[in-house]
Amino acid sequence: MTEEVLVLDFGGQYSQLIARRIRECGVFAELLPHDTELTRIRERHPAALVLSGGPASVYSEGAPELRPELLELGIPVLGICYGMQAMVRVLGGRVEGADAGEFGRTPLSLADGGGRLLSGLPDEQQCWMSHRDAVFEPPPGFAALASSPGSPVAACESPDRDLYGIQFHPEVVHTPYGTQILDRFLRDLAGLEQRWSPASVIAEQVEGIRAEVGDGGVVCGLSGGVDSATAAALVHRAVGDQLTCVLVDHGLLRKNEAEQVVETFRDRGIRLIDVAAQDRFLERLAGVVEPERKRKIIGEEFIRVFEEEAEKLPDVRFLVQGTLYSDVIESGGDGRTAAATIKSHHNVGGLPEDLGLALVEPLRMLFKDEVRAVATELGLPERIVWRQPFPGPGLGIRVVGGEVTAERLEILREADAVLQEEIRAAGLYRELWQSFCVLPVVRSVGVQGDGRSYAYPVVVRAVTSADAMTADWARLPYELLERVSNRIINEVPGVNRVVLDISSKPPATIEWE
Ligand code: XMP
Repeated sequence: MTEEVLVLDFGGQYSQLIARRIRECGVFAELLPHDTELTRIRERHPAALVLSGGPASVYSEGAPELRPELLELGIPVLGICYGMQAMVRVLGGRVEGADAGEFGRTPLSLADGGGRLLSGLPDEQQCWMSHRDAVFEPPPGFAALASSPGSPVAACESPDRDLYGIQFHPEVVHTPYGTQILDRFLRDLAGLEQRWSPASVIAEQVEGIRAEVGDGGVVCGLSGGVDSATAAALVHRAVGDQLTCVLVDHGLLRKNEAEQVVETFRDRGIRLIDVAAQDRFLERLAGVVEPERKRKIIGEEFIRVFEEEAEKLPDVRFLVQGTLYSDVIESGGDGRTAAATIKSHHNVGGLPEDLGLALVEPLRMLFKDEVRAVATELGLPERIVWRQPFPGPGLGIRVVGGEVTAERLEILREADAVLQEEIRAAGLYRELWQSFCVLPVVRSVGVQGDGRSYAYPVVVRAVTSADAMTADWARLPYELLERVSNRIINEVPGVNRVVLDISSKPPATIEWE
């Protein structure tokens, strides 16, 4: 294992971003809860620690505590925002509530040339702040390196003890010298080399998968998305024909999606079973209107089909899952099973543990953008690498307020294909978190040609988002909307209106259901 930096999470909204930025500097970083046991931290032999920001005041009751032992591990420590305040307080400096907090872009002035951490940077610069308390005096033996209007000590250090602190956030793009500061800490102060990259993950994972799997059979369910495709491609690189992929085509995928996946995998010589199960799903969905029941039925049927196929394979002992690092973190750190539960809860591609198969999760240390980099490195096509997220129950939950029928799916799939095509042609596909069509099961009157029509509306939903927790409706150009509307109404029989959803999340959600 290469050298790693541990980021201790004190609850800040940017903690994951710190880990990502450190990795972008070529050093592997992992996020752990701030109260992770000391023995566990020591066992990892981290090369450096970063203490994240957090929402609490160091004085408030129940504020996450910084254990002084963490500053005595003999490795460099960088405290950011709350992390710095906690460090200063533990070591005898003065942290107090200021008259006003600082939030957002803030001017920063260096003192004494910026010390080891900030030397060489402009004396006056911008940074991004988000704090109420401030450091008024650094701990004994520390030098103050910078100040801002609301932070008498906005950065400090004790090079002898290898301790550094900054009040502002180097991990956000609004701190122009942020990456340089992280880089300074990692390279010049902690002596770390640039060794980590998505490509290095591939080599490491391939070795790890071989050791884990031995000569056992491995099965992987493909959903059409980038996570399962990348996990499968990695496992295939490691164990070749020991892997069989299963694509359950439930008839609820987007247009041509199943074909694209099948083609990609067959071209690469990966064993793939393509199960045409559309009729089974439609039969079970007949008469069902309530969205939660649709989800449940699709999920259950998916598992049933998958199990039937997996049972036919000889000597299968392992199941590949495309669990990502964000799933692992959400589940509270290390728990393999907890992570798997989250994934299967929110994803029809998730499979129950009573299949009796051991999990192989080659992406469980990676953020989404890193998965895309690995996928590109593995040579997966652009269409799969950059595919927007898609719910496991697929188009099944986008036929809203009525039963899912073959005819409605056909209308929705065709309308959605037009939207996708136009959004790609406008160069907007990657900018949008998701863009899709919804089919409300209501019909209204229109005039088409000489006659009156009585047909469905199609809803266009396009959102920008960082993580799907919140989302804003995308301001698509009018010309694009006009083309989409004309084409859908002209090309898709059964549709006589196109409407645009202009709701943000919250209070709406991304999907309609
Ligand atoms: P909402 O609609 O809750 O969606 O704003 C948030 C994100 O989750 C996706 N989503 C799902 N993904 N299985 C999935 O794998 C599901 O049942 C499911 N429901 C919603 C949705 O597409 C969005 O990205």
